[in-house]
Amino acid sequence: MKLKQVIPKAASKHLVKIKNHLVLINHALYDLGRFIKYSSINAYNEDAIITWLMQDSHRIEKGLSLRNPKKGFGKDVLVRIFKNIQLAKNFDKNLMSESVDYAIFALDLYFDYHKDSLDLIAPKLVEAFQSLENKKNAISSNSEHVSKDINEYFGDYKFDDLCFDRASVRQFDLSKNISKEELEALIKPVIKTPSVCNRQHCKVKIITERNLVLDLLKLQNGNRGFTEDIPALAIVTSDISFFVKPEERNQAFVDGGMFAMSLLYSMQNKGFVACPLNWSANIKNDKALYKFNILENKESVIMFIAFGRPLNTILFAKSPRKSLNNFYQYYK
Ligand SMILES: Cc1cc2nc3c(=O)[nH]c(=O)nc-3n(C[C@H](O)[C@H](O)[C@H](O)COP(=O)(O)O)c2cc1C
Repeated sequence: MKLKQVIPKAASKHLVKIKNHLVLINHALYDLGRFIKYSSINAYNEDAIITWLMQDSHRIEKGLSLRNPKKGFGKDVLVRIFKNIQLAKNFDKNLMSESVDYAIFALDLYFDYHKDSLDLIAPKLVEAFQSLENKKNAISSNSEHVSKDINEYFGDYKFDDLCFDRASVRQFDLSKNISKEELEALIKPVIKTPSVCNRQHCKVKIITERNLVLDLLKLQNGNRGFTEDIPALAIVTSDISFFVKPEERNQAFVDGGMFAMSLLYSMQNKGFVACPLNWSANIKNDKALYKFNILENKESVIMFIAFGRPLNTILFAKSPRKSLNNFYQYYK
């Protein structure tokens, strides 16, 4: 006799509820464990230094872009930037030197803004700025635009068309390959997606090797019926080592979702068809994904995207939207 037959209906509903709650707690603990282990809340390592440099540089830049920046603002931030520029010298990594360049660029803007009020800044910070190395390089590589005329700022976009034309497509032309140049052209505009404090922690891993694509799809729960038709996979990730505070526990998914959406629009813009694929994976599948050595442990998955070149006729589900008034509330 089956358990279902002996347990009364009301009790069995209750058991399902308890089971769901336990599964939820287990997954929440798994996420929490990953955040504790791989974020930088407890570490002052290479990634944390890069993160602090990026976000502090951004704070200075941002402060200077306000209407009336208060003279002498951001003292603590300045102290930390100089400290991190010193620490950065211990690491030989491209990203580290880019972050230092960004910091020097921001400091240059800051000290230029204060050129007639240097007395508001602690002398040791002024001295630290004056003795910075590689100033020229850093400044020239970053200073393209810090302000634009209104006519230059807005272009002639067709964004509505991009939004209304894009659809999740689940059929692809398997005979067409994707070149590295095409991929780079696809990703280039995506990196302009905003991220918290400009930390730029998202990445996309492109996989076109047939067997690998199929193996990876086995771990994803929404590709049944079109698995064999998928020529390429994009795995959007966020590097959680770029998070330095407990409150940032969800930021990977916010920024990552935005990055993924940009990628979908870029695909549409460059003539690819695509279907986002959820990574609502269970713990077993999430762990299994890391065994492929495509992701570092500190990278969390935002989503998969199946993509490729279209067939001549593009078939897709209509996926009608609720009416407009469901999507906003206006408080006048
Ligand atoms: C994060 C995310 C995950 C998705 N996961 C899947 C999936 O696993 N399988 C699938 O066939 N479609 C998936 N979709 C596609 C949605 O079903 C589709 O976006 C929705 O129906 C709206 O249709 P449209 O994209 O054509 O506008 C996903 C979409 C998003 C945004």
